[in-house]
Amino acid sequence: MNTKLLYIKEDLSNLDELEPIARAMDKGQVVCFPTETVYGLGARYDLDEAVKEIFRVKGRPQDNPLILHESSVERMAAYYKDWDKVAETLTAAFCPGPFTLIMEKADDLKTVASAGLNTIGLRIPDHPVAHALIKYLGRAIAAPSANISGRPSPTNGSDAYEDLAGKVPYIVVADPSRVGLESTIVSWVGGKLELLRPGGISAKQIGDALIKAGIDPLDLGFKVFSMEDYEKESKPRAPGMKYRHYAPRANVHIIKGDNLEDKLSYIKEHIDQGSIGLKPGFYISIELNKRLSDNPWPVLTFEDTADHHAGSHYLFTAFRELDREACSDIWVENLDFNGLGQAYMNRLEKAACKTLRDPSQGPHL
Ligand code: TXA
Ligand code: MG
Repeated sequence: MNTKLLYIKEDLSNLDELEPIARAMDKGQVVCFPTETVYGLGARYDLDEAVKEIFRVKGRPQDNPLILHESSVERMAAYYKDWDKVAETLTAAFCPGPFTLIMEKADDLKTVASAGLNTIGLRIPDHPVAHALIKYLGRAIAAPSANISGRPSPTNGSDAYEDLAGKVPYIVVADPSRVGLESTIVSWVGGKLELLRPGGISAKQIGDALIKAGIDPLDLGFKVFSMEDYEKESKPRAPGMKYRHYAPRANVHIIKGDNLEDKLSYIKEHIDQGSIGLKPGFYISIELNKRLSDNPWPVLTFEDTADHHAGSHYLFTAFRELDREACSDIWVENLDFNGLGQAYMNRLEKAACKTLRDPSQGPHL
């Protein structure tokens, strides 16, 4: 298949070129498009064959549901069975943005995107290109991240092209995704509020928004899922979350330590023990790199700030870049949980995770 690239101009003056792409989606085509979190692989949610094609292209198991993308809270609400003050509060605070809300789906909502579950996840992307595409379609786009299952999500056009060239008819390219990690996923089902995947919106922001609206998060049993929780669940709610993913080809290792000195010793220990790998690569802060003098191996650095924005923004790009450098092992600095830190550590732990992988199931995301 010939893959056409459509470049959206910075001043957005050629957004109307998305209309023919929407018409191709009406015919069942699957299209890669940018959002502010990561690039998505989208189809009309109501065309079963088109949605199934997403699963095929990604190599994603059919039991792992897709989320839908809409353009306003009012439209989003129509896909759910009920709408209440919690849903109202969270969507008012975080939509549009990197926030996905899972609730029971409306009885008449028929889509293979939900993979047979009675719940559905929706979000409103904060991106003009995604909005224009939804507008031209006049309905929701079902879209997972545009990576091939198990790989890091693409956050720019060339990373999307790396995974999808020859597999989809169109890739729409705009700026690199602003956030660089996928949305925060919150499930509000059966009176329980659970944060299933940390992302661009932090648990603290969610708690604060609820409190501001006079809702005590503890009354909703607000819970943040950890890796251990996933391991304990016999039937995971989000099947895709249980296995190793976001992973480059190289082995990923976390550089542990509470401060730069500890992290430096951690690296040196592995070098001294000969366990640093045949061709190690590093993804570390500028500060840590300054202390790692005479390092002969590839290093990508980020400017670390309290909210860890840059570290998170470039994480997936760095995985792919160090793979292209043919690194055998990638050593990545751990960060604290401030700002985007929790989402960063979640992706990093899963990329580094060896034990959780169930080979009979393959990678899931
Ligand atoms: O930022 C994002 O969320 C990106 C962009 C493209 O919007 N999308 C994305 O989709 O990351 P995906 O499919 O790669 O990750 C969505 C996750 C999967 O782990 C899936 O299992 C889970 O959400 N999920 C979807 N619907 C669900 C549901 N009804 N119940 C539980 N988990 C669900
Ligand atoms: Mg994904």
